[in-house]
Amino acid sequence: MLDTKILSGIEASHALYDSLHDRIHTLKEKGITPGLAAILVGEDPASQIYVRNKTKRFDALGLKSDLYRLEDSVSQKELLDLIAKINADDSFHGILVQLPLPKHIDSDKVIHAIDPKKDVDGFHPENAGLLSIGRPRFVPCTPKGIMFMLKHFDVDLNGKHVVVVGRSNIVGRPVSVLSSLKSLGNATVTLCHSGTSDLKHFTQQADVVVAAMGSPEFLDASFIKEGACLVDVGINRIERDGKSVIVGDVNQPSVTGKASSLTPVPRGVGPMTIAMLVENTIVSAELLLLN
Ligand code: GUN
Repeated sequence: MLDTKILSGIEASHALYDSLHDRIHTLKEKGITPGLAAILVGEDPASQIYVRNKTKRFDALGLKSDLYRLEDSVSQKELLDLIAKINADDSFHGILVQLPLPKHIDSDKVIHAIDPKKDVDGFHPENAGLLSIGRPRFVPCTPKGIMFMLKHFDVDLNGKHVVVVGRSNIVGRPVSVLSSLKSLGNATVTLCHSGTSDLKHFTQQADVVVAAMGSPEFLDASFIKEGACLVDVGINRIERDGKSVIVGDVNQPSVTGKASSLTPVPRGVGPMTIAMLVENTIVSAELLLLN
């Protein structure tokens, strides 16, 4: 039995926040307070919690954050008009539109409407393209947080096999690109998804598995090799013993003792996503100074 190390996102995120204080101070000395505009459409309980946690962190660091709450019935035009207004407002360095959006709104159109220089989520095609050619500007927050965490806990990816499960634009695809970049991961990467036949064949070879498929406790000990590092990106609410609990995509009790290290859920990748949103907003403010 291995002594599975728990990779705390609380610890890693605080290491990042410690390093941000000087940068925030320097910007404030120049009269700039990094500012985020967060847009939440509708009443989805999980999205409400995520957005509140994001803006709370900005407040705690003395940064500006305004939350725009729009009704579920808002028209696409109203949302696009709001984005245009925030694009033109110099007090905002970052714009975040919490996903998913209601079905009657075309998410791609909304993402395209965000000024790529304020796209702190890194979802705009210009930023996604820059990442894919190895010149990252704004990198999506969860993948960036995963890379930070692995570095913080000395999980070396160089020459290793990273198997990513899930191909979303928010997590799976960007984390596969980041891990493969020579300057960041230099790993050999396999990107698996719902169409992969014999998933175990791939995950059992992995030195690092990134589980980002959104299936509660799917990945158990039978999927991994001994000593693998597991990054659990899932946030799934399930009923257990009559209670509502949050679990990841990894069956954590099953893999404990076989994995060398594991990010917990909660308090694993989640806090890193927020930390990277803060960092991206600071980067945006710094880039404005340079240009
Ligand atoms: N929904 C799930 N993850 C994210 C994220 O990182 N950013 C935004 N805007 N929406 C999300």
